[in-house]
Amino acid sequence: MPTNDWTRHHVLSLADFTSAEYDTVLQTAASFQEVLSRRTKKVPTLQGQVVANLFFEPSTRTRSSFELAAKRLSADTLNFASASSSMTKGETILDTAKTYLAMGTDIMVIRHKEAGVPNAIAQEMDRLGVRVSVLNAGDGQHEHPSQGLLDLFTICTLLDPDNPRLELLKGKKIAIVGDILHSRVARSNIWSITASGAELHLAAPPTLLPKLFADFGKDRPGRLFIHWQLEPALKDADFVMTLRLQKERMTAHLLPSLREYHQMFGITRSKLQLCKPNVKVLHPGPVNRGVEISSDLMDDPEFSLIQTQVTSGVAVRMALLYLIGTTRA
Ligand code: NCD
Repeated sequence: MPTNDWTRHHVLSLADFTSAEYDTVLQTAASFQEVLSRRTKKVPTLQGQVVANLFFEPSTRTRSSFELAAKRLSADTLNFASASSSMTKGETILDTAKTYLAMGTDIMVIRHKEAGVPNAIAQEMDRLGVRVSVLNAGDGQHEHPSQGLLDLFTICTLLDPDNPRLELLKGKKIAIVGDILHSRVARSNIWSITASGAELHLAAPPTLLPKLFADFGKDRPGRLFIHWQLEPALKDADFVMTLRLQKERMTAHLLPSLREYHQMFGITRSKLQLCKPNVKVLHPGPVNRGVEISSDLMDDPEFSLIQTQVTSGVAVRMALLYLIGTTRA
């Protein structure tokens, strides 16, 4: 593994990530990708450390990915799911976190439907003076840093498999399409992509893309554009990232109908003709097939990076756990 000058103790957001930090994550993930291609896919790096996955909201890929990543690093893992926990008996989130602390947890991976919960737990751990690291695995509409990093890794390894690095995105055009308003994935990706010097184009109906998103692009190396139509975002794009319509987070009636949404903003083979010929499509999952992306396109390996994203996720989460876990020691 690369020797690192990593100093970050918690990973809660990508808003203040430096170029050097992005490159350290990308290079470390590339080393772990190599480990994962070996016959013995395990390293002893975090032996004896405890990684607790505290998921207060449902998840398939993020939770399993963090669990596998921790196991590949030889850490002991604890898995918590709120529906089957003492929270149903009235235990608070902080008391739950302290229970895992008392069991010797070193790293807490936290997902919650409210923005700010991972930050609050990290602050409490710091206040208690314990060397516990917190990784945000998605909090409300705020951020999903490990997803942003795995999306970045997926794109950069496609551009240079031997040496993925942030500068590869300079001059590329990337479109993010869909329910940006409710998406923590979009917010984390906005930080990483605008840090890289790429041109970022956001596209959605106005109800799902308020004007204030333009502010995210201020004083960043890359430029950010917002569109209330799909075509200008797709024109000559190198990468298109689609997002799920997050019905569980919609508090008002924001769309005419799913059919109409698919017609206007759904990504299909024919709409991709506007993009560069070798365009690739990403989606963080879970997918509403036939809504934000057509079912056939989703399964077409010529265009779709969706399965690669899932595979990359394990290496990227190993990198994060390793960087945080070995900085703690
Ligand atoms: C996303 C999430 O939960 O934020 N999925 C994921 O973690 N891969 C996106 C979503 O819910 O649509």
